[in-house]
Amino acid sequence: MKDDRLSRILLDRAEIQERIRTLGEQISLEMRGLTPCIMPILDGGMIFTSDLIRQISLPITLIPIKASSYGKERISSGRLDLTWGVSPLVRDQDILLVDDILDTGLTLTKLSSTLLESGARSVRTCVLLRKHHAAHLHSDYIGFEIPNEFVVGYGLDHAGQHRNLPDIRCLEIEEKA
Ligand code: PRP
Repeated sequence: MKDDRLSRILLDRAEIQERIRTLGEQISLEMRGLTPCIMPILDGGMIFTSDLIRQISLPITLIPIKASSYGKERISSGRLDLTWGVSPLVRDQDILLVDDILDTGLTLTKLSSTLLESGARSVRTCVLLRKHHAAHLHSDYIGFEIPNEFVVGYGLDHAGQHRNLPDIRCLEIEEKA
C-alpha cells in the first residue's frame, strides 16, 4: 500500500550497493592478514551486514549480537538492552561491529567497551549512515553522512515497520503539539 509519508528517497538501492562495494574493498585492505569477526547489530544492521560481508575478500567469522535502545520510539531511551549478552567466542578476536546508523552513539560506545571487557583483541566499527548531529562521533568506516532526518528502509525501522524497503527513505511524521 502506498504511504505518502515515505515518498522521499534519500539513498537509492544502486548508490547503497556501490558504496558498500567500496567499503568492502577498504575493509579488506585495511584488515588484511586478519580474520575479522563480523558482528551485525540486530535487528537494524542485519541487511547491511549481509551485503557488506559479500564484498569483503578476507576469511571472516560471523557472530550476531542483538541490542536495542529505541523500542517503538523515535528517541533513544538512553539505555541499551542486550538480549543475548556477549558470546565467549569474542575472546582474542578482531571484531568489526556493523550497524545501520550512528545517532546518539550509545549502541557502538557501549558495545565496544563491553566487547573489550569480554576479551576481544580489537574492536572496529562500521556504520552505513552517520547523522549530521553525530559528526563528532567516531566510526572506523562510514557509508554516508546524512541530514538529521528520521529514515527507514534497508534495515531501518519505525516501530518495527519498513525494514524491507530496498531504498532508504525519509519518514515524515507530524510532531505531537
Ligand atoms: C537503532 C539502530 C542502531 C541504533 C543507533 O537500533 O539500528 O543500532 O539505534 O542509535 P544510537 O547511535 O543512538 O545508539 P534500535 O535500538 O532501534 O534497535 P533495532 O536495530 O532493533 O531497530
